[in-house]
Amino acid sequence: MASSSQNGLPNQEQKGGLSFVDYLRGLSILIYESFFEKITSRHLKNPLPLPPLSDLIVILTGPTSEIGLEIARNLTFSGAHLVMAARNTKAAHDLINQWNHERSYSSSDNEAKLLDIEVMKLDLLSLQSVVKFAQEWNSRSRPVNVLINNAGIYSMKPQSFSEDEFETHLHVNHLAPALLSMLLLPSLKKGSPSRIVNNSSTGHFLGFVDVDDMNFTSSTRKFSGFKGYTSSKIAQVMFSSILQKMLPADSRINVVCASPGSVRYTNVARDLPKMVKCVLQPLSFFLYTPKEGCRNVLYAATYPQVQDYTKSLKAQDSLVCAYINHDCSFGCVSKEAQNLEGFHESLGEDIGYDWTSF
Ligand SMILES: NC(=O)c1ccc[n+]([C@@H]2O[C@H](COP(=O)([O-])OP(=O)(O)OC[C@H]3O[C@@H](n4cnc5c(N)ncnc54)[C@H](OP(=O)(O)O)[C@@H]3O)[C@@H](O)[C@H]2O)c1
Repeated sequence: MASSSQNGLPNQEQKGGLSFVDYLRGLSILIYESFFEKITSRHLKNPLPLPPLSDLIVILTGPTSEIGLEIARNLTFSGAHLVMAARNTKAAHDLINQWNHERSYSSSDNEAKLLDIEVMKLDLLSLQSVVKFAQEWNSRSRPVNVLINNAGIYSMKPQSFSEDEFETHLHVNHLAPALLSMLLLPSLKKGSPSRIVNNSSTGHFLGFVDVDDMNFTSSTRKFSGFKGYTSSKIAQVMFSSILQKMLPADSRINVVCASPGSVRYTNVARDLPKMVKCVLQPLSFFLYTPKEGCRNVLYAATYPQVQDYTKSLKAQDSLVCAYINHDCSFGCVSKEAQNLEGFHESLGEDIGYDWTSF
């Protein structure tokens, strides 16, 4: 019989982390991706051609930097109605001005239409900000066709906690996007068939969720930025699988995780020590640029094949959600992320959510 962890979630094996073999497997997947991603994805066009998007309403978090900025740019230039959910609203408005300017220059038409884009404030380090954002959007009674949870952090600074008292990686990379997804379900239902696309990471193959110590505050697991990041990313993947499983098929809301690959020059590694940055510099030759790294999230958000794939997983009653590799192929989440036995039922009961309303 499954044992029960301190917080009541069934936990088949009470273990403190990944096994050595699983860790080595994860590490080799990450190293292989970093060195060979440009070769394995050479069939992909850059930029990725997108289907017509003029009927699509997309909410994108973290649209003001690197991968998110490229996702935003591609979506808005392809005609989607884009909601930039940004913590730095000024940076978002500056980008819109710049893009409208670019567009008017490149257009032969003197009265080039302005981009269909807006900015809403969202700080993922505050659950209150997430609730406010969702309430504001839901009150408009407008649908959402795609929610892209792109914003994320990877900090090498000493361990820190949010105002809601969660470890910051856990908060920004998993808890806040999960809450946002849940609160926007009514609007996603209105926009169905719709998608929740979570910008995942191959780093999740090295992550481990300790349900008794999500905040790394017990003395059993020593915190590091790397552990904080990878744990938050596997938690995001596991939540995505649970959400996909709990949503009734006729809700037509699809949940997808997309791993952008290893991307150079991004701010996600802004806190790395200078020494480490120097050592990693030669490696950047092998890595994607943000323009290349945005392609699989764009693919996950807009290509019809992805919808068909998630539908087929649902029909098979799959326990895990769709996972898209850096080269836009369909992949599989880590072995550890598939360790969900008991979670679906417990979570459904624990949060008292009426899934049948979708
Ligand atoms: N770079 C890689 O190699 C890589 C690999 C795998 C996965 N990823 C994932 O890709 C995503 C984007 O990463 P990136 O490399 O483009 O990093 P980035 O340049 O640091 O961008 C992160 C975005 O998240 C936003 N953000 C951070 N904290 C936030 C908060 N509290 N509230 C709202 N927004 C917040 C940032 O806003 P500001 O613009 O205001 O800073 C920024 O727009 C992340 O989820 C990351 O985990 C990246």
